[in-house]
Amino acid sequence: MSLLQEHVLLRHRDIPNIRDIHVYTAHGGYDALRKALNEMQPGEVTDVVKASGLRGRGGAGFPAGVKWSFIPKDVKPVYIVVNADESEPGTFKDRELIEGNPHQVLEGIALCAYAVGAEAAYIYGRGEFRGPFRGLQQAIDQAYEQGFLGENILGTDFSLDVYTHLGAGAYICGEETALLSSLEGKLGQPRNRPPFPAQVGLYGKPTVVNNVETLTNVPPIVRHGAEWYRQFGTEKSTGTKIFCLSGHVVRPGNYELPLGTPLRYLIEECGGGVPGGRKVKAILPAGASAPILPGDKLDLPLDYESVQAAGSMLGSASFIVMDETVDMVWAASKMVHFFKHESCGKCSPCREGTYWMEDVYHRLRDGHARPDDVDLLLSIADQMDGNCFCLLGEFSLSPVRSSIRHFREEYEMRVKRMGIGD
Ligand SMILES: Cc1cc2nc3c(=O)[nH]c(=O)nc-3n(C[C@H](O)[C@H](O)[C@H](O)COP(=O)(O)O)c2cc1C
Repeated sequence: MSLLQEHVLLRHRDIPNIRDIHVYTAHGGYDALRKALNEMQPGEVTDVVKASGLRGRGGAGFPAGVKWSFIPKDVKPVYIVVNADESEPGTFKDRELIEGNPHQVLEGIALCAYAVGAEAAYIYGRGEFRGPFRGLQQAIDQAYEQGFLGENILGTDFSLDVYTHLGAGAYICGEETALLSSLEGKLGQPRNRPPFPAQVGLYGKPTVVNNVETLTNVPPIVRHGAEWYRQFGTEKSTGTKIFCLSGHVVRPGNYELPLGTPLRYLIEECGGGVPGGRKVKAILPAGASAPILPGDKLDLPLDYESVQAAGSMLGSASFIVMDETVDMVWAASKMVHFFKHESCGKCSPCREGTYWMEDVYHRLRDGHARPDDVDLLLSIADQMDGNCFCLLGEFSLSPVRSSIRHFREEYEMRVKRMGIGD
């Protein structure tokens, strides 16, 4: 069940085999690119994306058109880098877009390239995307054959080459500057910002880094206009969003809904509720990175502002539902383990802090916790806060602090070793 009459992004659900270029073009595919190349100046494409209010879907929610407008006009070459690293736990939307509707991704890339004057685009995928990228390469080859990529696209003087690249399976390579380093063949570790990639990006040149889902929104925006797009969502969080739903729900999966849809609708209507009629205990709205929300937040509208006001972040909108059987100390320890494992080691607050936090969780798990261990966790988090080189270290504080904030009694039971089994 969906609040949309038809999907904007997940169009393959409505139109079988839209991954084939002939089916895609029969349903208006590449019309937006044709319209842009024939009727619009590059700056007008940026303007319509700005006016649509489209915000980045990779996590930070930065307005896409504004980001494009930061690209200097007098420095060449300009690059597009598409972030398909998709490594946040519980996030699986970009994969579905790449597999199900790859030409809409490619058309979005071409529109972005035209808008900012780029002639090369790189799609960086997580190491495990070997299969999805085979299909993506076929779509790229088809687009070249049909004249939508390559030299003199649609007979104009706009040319674009698109390349794919697979990483080696590191979460940090989703962070845009680490991604750029990895793409350049260097160690995948973050760089200082500023300068931001729009000024000094891939190979030191101006670069737009956008998420797959962000760019997939662009063809319908250019085709139907900013006003059409703004009919979906809220004033500040416009459009539709793919919500990745997993954990304790009857029907996990991707659901495309207008931003601002209540969490209850996602979990109960789309997901079919919690199996066995059990209660929702906690929700992770953005995988492991954003603070845990307690289960009484089901009426929360799912837009960037509302989720932030509720003390968390919408991020990539990967909703992991935990029912009342979940031990929150265990859940937090798993997330801390993830961040410790994925810490790139560049800065000591993250490298050491995640290690020490996991050490405390091991004591809690093994029944050796010390009386002040809960406060010790909070103290480590305070010392890391604001001192990590990039957001990975800051993300690792979310499960720790939020689980203690909402479920401290479960920690205290561990400290007192009361009724806990592993
Ligand atoms: C540790 C870390 C991991 C990230 N992983 C991803 C990712 O897998 N995919 C993604 O699109 N953005 C990821 N991001 C966000 C990117 O740095 C960047 O903001 C995004 O690619 C920009 O695209 P957008 O504006 O279209 O969202 C990550 C950020 C951090 C700090």
